[in-house]
Amino acid sequence: MMSLACRCGVLSPYLQATKHTVKNRVFSGAKELGPAAAPAGIRLAHTDIKIPDFTDYRRPEVVDPSKSSEKSSASRKAFSYLVTGATTVVSVYAAKTIVTQFVSSMSASADVLALSKIEIKLGDIPEGKNMTFKWRGKPLFVRHRTEKEISTETAVNISELRDPQHDKDRVINPKWVIVLGVCTHLGCVPIANAGDFGGYYCPCHGSHYDASGRIRKGPAPLNLEVPYYEFPDDDTVIVG
Ligand code: FES
Repeated sequence: MMSLACRCGVLSPYLQATKHTVKNRVFSGAKELGPAAAPAGIRLAHTDIKIPDFTDYRRPEVVDPSKSSEKSSASRKAFSYLVTGATTVVSVYAAKTIVTQFVSSMSASADVLALSKIEIKLGDIPEGKNMTFKWRGKPLFVRHRTEKEISTETAVNISELRDPQHDKDRVINPKWVIVLGVCTHLGCVPIANAGDFGGYYCPCHGSHYDASGRIRKGPAPLNLEVPYYEFPDDDTVIVG
């Protein structure tokens, strides 16, 4: 009875109330009902909880509950930090490897990349002529300009242009104009060496481009696009 009363102090109010009721019933019922109705089968839930022994899982420093664990605190924390840090490094490295492999699997293969560039021999294009190549499924204009064309385009006042761009900002070597042969209006292929400005003329709706590929007249809103290109030597250009 003493132990029952003492334990009441640490139970929740609900259990305390239940326990109180059970205790009253036990003692009053014993008097009223006699020995045959004694509540021998009534047990409180907490009495049959078996608490497992976790000693095997505890660190040796904290097995003895009567000893202070404060002294071993630093070394135990260091071990925890070490394990956490190592796990984090391994996880990050694994994640980086997975992401890299996933992303690289989506990039273009070597044969596709090779097709994305075009190498053009400039010696095959006479001065004053424009040649058309197919690059990435689009027409590519390579124009070998004359000195007259270069001086004319360089002298254009860009404030008069719809898409203001100086000629020197559209070429690497003034002799060569390299642009996509796609009209910026609705995508037709312009005709070279035609139109009011002697550059390109789009017959679909009448857009006129100059010898720098800049829009000068007609509905097209922008200049012909200049792709990325470089000259590995004086006679070669690589586009793409
Ligand atoms: S598509 Fe070239 S002018 Fe319309």
